[in-house]
Amino acid sequence: MEAINYQVKERNEEIKLPESLGFGKYFTDHVFEMDYSKEKGWYNPTIKPLADILMHPATMFIHYGQAIFEGLKAFKTENGDVVLFRPDQHIKRLNNSAKRICIPAVDEEFVLEALKELVNIDRDWVPSKKGESLYVRPFVYGSNPFLGVSPANTYKLVILLSPVGAYYPEGFKPVKILVQDDYVRAVRKGLGECKTPANYAASLLAGEKAKEKGFTQVLWLDGVKQKNIEEVGTMNIFINLKDEVVTPKLNGSILPGITRKTVIQLLKEWNMNVVERDISVDEVIQKYDSGELLGIFGTGTAAVITSVGWLSFKDKNMVINGGEPGKLDVKLFDEITAIQYGLKQDTHGWIQKVEKKEVEVS
Ligand code: COI
Repeated sequence: MEAINYQVKERNEEIKLPESLGFGKYFTDHVFEMDYSKEKGWYNPTIKPLADILMHPATMFIHYGQAIFEGLKAFKTENGDVVLFRPDQHIKRLNNSAKRICIPAVDEEFVLEALKELVNIDRDWVPSKKGESLYVRPFVYGSNPFLGVSPANTYKLVILLSPVGAYYPEGFKPVKILVQDDYVRAVRKGLGECKTPANYAASLLAGEKAKEKGFTQVLWLDGVKQKNIEEVGTMNIFINLKDEVVTPKLNGSILPGITRKTVIQLLKEWNMNVVERDISVDEVIQKYDSGELLGIFGTGTAAVITSVGWLSFKDKNMVINGGEPGKLDVKLFDEITAIQYGLKQDTHGWIQKVEKKEVEVS
């Protein structure tokens, strides 16, 4: 791979972030971009000032959706270091998504280095308040103009940075979730496990209808029988029962979340009986009625650990743990965020430091 071309702009004024960041509304000064063609492979890696991307109206991904993305986070630790949480896992997943929709793989080590270089350049944008972080959004799309349905000939990879707070309007407070059976998000052997815009487009109408009824998000059921619970779209789901903590097993239509994987590992280390298996909505209701349902929480990069305080399916309305965050949810949230903000030693190799380097400005 050729060396990164730096077109770094000096910032003359102080960065002023609002009191409440919300999610995905603000962007830093620079982006990383690189191109792909069949002849050259990935080429022209460049860090440059954030600017609009000019594209031909026939640019392929606009029409046929050949695009993938990731979401990971950089944190400012207590001692002022900037660190990334499991970036290698996210880049690996980017390549898994790429394979499913005929996008050429990236060199994972190179993209990780490029990502660190970019975060280093915009490191002053990493917020230091607890609950805030710098969200890193790598994405790849088919970029040549053509109206025939086929994989694109050329691609662009972009890494965009956005200082963020909590994803949900509730902050990290328990959310209200509606179990959805009027629509499906994904089916086995489809695109469900691929982080591609199509899955999010599939979720919009149901999400809007749920919001109209006062819910934050929907919980999807399997696309065939609409019986087993799958995921929330912005987070994976865990059901905390009396004798086991259950999360739906990865069956091809569920996104393999990195926070999901982190939680499974932590629960195993805490000697808890965490089980990846099918779990139907009927079983969740039955466990609720019998008093064996202790809590429900979601996991995700943006959502971190978010308790589900209310879960509704048809005319069954369940108040989970009195609408309060469950003990286990809080313990997991505290453990993961303590590692991310450097308050607790990382014994798992999940944290990667972004070394501070001076870069020449143009
Ligand atoms: C994430 O958690 O990073 C996601 O990608 C979910 C959502 C913001 C699309």
